[in-house]
Amino acid sequence: MSGAGARPAGAVDEAGAAQAVQQMFDSIAPRYDLLNHVLSANVDRLWWWRTARRFRAVLREPDARVLDICCGTGDMTMALLKRRPKGARPILAADFSRNMLSRGAKKFGAAARAEDAPYAVALEADALHLPLRSNSLDLIVSAFGFRNLANYEAGLREFHRVLKPGGQLGILDFSEPGGLVGKAYAVYFRRVLPAIGRAICGKDGPYNYLPTSVGNFPPPPAMLSLMNSTGYEQCAWQPYTFGIAGLYTATRSNDGRVQQ
Ligand SMILES: C[S@@+](CC[C@H](N)C(=O)[O-])C[C@H]1O[C@@H](n2cnc3c(N)ncnc32)[C@H](O)[C@@H]1O
Repeated sequence: MSGAGARPAGAVDEAGAAQAVQQMFDSIAPRYDLLNHVLSANVDRLWWWRTARRFRAVLREPDARVLDICCGTGDMTMALLKRRPKGARPILAADFSRNMLSRGAKKFGAAARAEDAPYAVALEADALHLPLRSNSLDLIVSAFGFRNLANYEAGLREFHRVLKPGGQLGILDFSEPGGLVGKAYAVYFRRVLPAIGRAICGKDGPYNYLPTSVGNFPPPPAMLSLMNSTGYEQCAWQPYTFGIAGLYTATRSNDGRVQQ
């Protein structure tokens, strides 16, 4: 598992993969929200809502330090903000695609919110090299972003570094359901979805990459084992909508020890 990560077509190493992912999201940013809602029939809203609800206890703490990493155009951030009290410390919403992030900032920034309403601060940053202090965060959430990292183990270790001992991690992402639902979904995901994506977005790459990246993403048992071995406890996976998506949750170990 060590070294596994996203590899868009043509990328030969981690640096190339990260650059290809960044360029791809920069290029689809103007159409991203529309495509997302069309392709998921708006079920994505339910997934963001469920993820935010899972972390409601920490989100309602005004002083909690929260990071939404790979925030993109900010819909996960918006769902998290709905659970923050008035006057709460702003959420940090980070992404390395400037075009995605700037759209997000328009939704979740202070200027977009009523006075005293919770807001988020946009941070242009790479998930594998966060410009944040060690042991500083209470919660990290990532929605449909982690799968795109060029190195999953490095991502988990970086999140571990910046989380406080006892801090919580939530990773929402696609998975491949089994059984009959899985077979039907595979046809949609591998054939219909890329065709719709191509029609709306006018290019092939991104929506061919999506099913490929989900196919390459570690299945739940392998992800949970990786989370355990990188210093997380209480690692669990909750399937959403027949396992089309699911939420990984974990707590950063208290002793700061990372198992080798
Ligand atoms: C599929 S979008 C998800 C956006 C949003 N979280 C959502 O739920 O709609 C994935 C996002 O991850 C970002 N991303 C991928 N790799 C990243 C990295 N290494 N560092 C920061 N952002 C990254 C991309 O730029 C993109 O905006």
